[in-house]
Amino acid sequence: MRDADLLSRAGSAGAGGPAPAGTASSAAASLAGVDRLEFSAIRLRRGAHALLDGLDLRLPVRMRTAVLGANGAGKTTLLQLAHGLIAPDSGAIAGRDAAGAAVAWRFGFVFQKPVMLMRSARANVEHALAVAGVPRARRRARADRALSEVGLLDAAQRPARRLSGGEQQRLAIARADAAAPDCLLLDEPTSSLDPHAAAAIERHLLALSAAGRGIVFATHDFALARRLAQRVVFMHLGRVLESGDAATFFAGPRSIEARRFLSGDLLQ
Ligand SMILES: Nc1ncnc2c1ncn2[C@@H]1O[C@H](COP(=O)(O)OP(=O)(O)O)[C@@H](O)[C@H]1O
Ligand SMILES: [Mg+2]
Repeated sequence: MRDADLLSRAGSAGAGGPAPAGTASSAAASLAGVDRLEFSAIRLRRGAHALLDGLDLRLPVRMRTAVLGANGAGKTTLLQLAHGLIAPDSGAIAGRDAAGAAVAWRFGFVFQKPVMLMRSARANVEHALAVAGVPRARRRARADRALSEVGLLDAAQRPARRLSGGEQQRLAIARADAAAPDCLLLDEPTSSLDPHAAAAIERHLLALSAAGRGIVFATHDFALARRLAQRVVFMHLGRVLESGDAATFFAGPRSIEARRFLSGDLLQ
């Protein structure tokens, strides 16, 4: 599915429904007592290719989690599943509150290459608020608050497509966050930015996290992941090989694949 096709759906989905019993591993069980998305035995094929091949994961919803792995590992697919933009062929995805009860979270999605509508920066945010069901009379004030938080209020009336790459990325985050989701899912949010623009994104993600937003981001930037992430999910060939505390992961990944990945020996 193309980014543009997904755009109008990217502000307002959730996950719910029952999870099958008996799928928790001991490492995953450490997230009992935490709001989390639970992925169980997820399979997803496209033609002859298995994108996800028996994926199990407990993903905390209100923490900062980096999703790492080589190109093609399945990071983008995982984020899209978490949001509900795509559905698995088989397996279950369930939102669980700290007590384990089923809930539906709201997610915002920031695409790797955000598609800007051919309108002003403000109108881009107002459109997202409309999709999220916010009444028209409240959109302007909420859009301006979101723009202000990313330092773009002065650019509110400028055409979104004329903004710089860094400004567009901040606008994309403001747009995804304007309806106050529980968690933001970001696909390589700094990959096309210069260091100055990337640092601005990083500061903003930390501020959002401090305000209570969950942050799940796919990245190839280990330094960013070390600074920002509390948890790491390491993917390889459509499966989660490691999931846990970020400092523990960076101090010594358990899997040979993650060790090779961190040492720069990119796996395909
Ligand atoms: N719609 C699709 N049809 C066929 N193959 C796909 C499709 N989407 C993704 N893939 C393939 O699935 C694998 C996992 O994709 P992706 O989740 O984008 O990985 P990552 O984000 O880690 O690079 C890749 O090999 C990719 O080329
Ligand atoms: Mg990707």
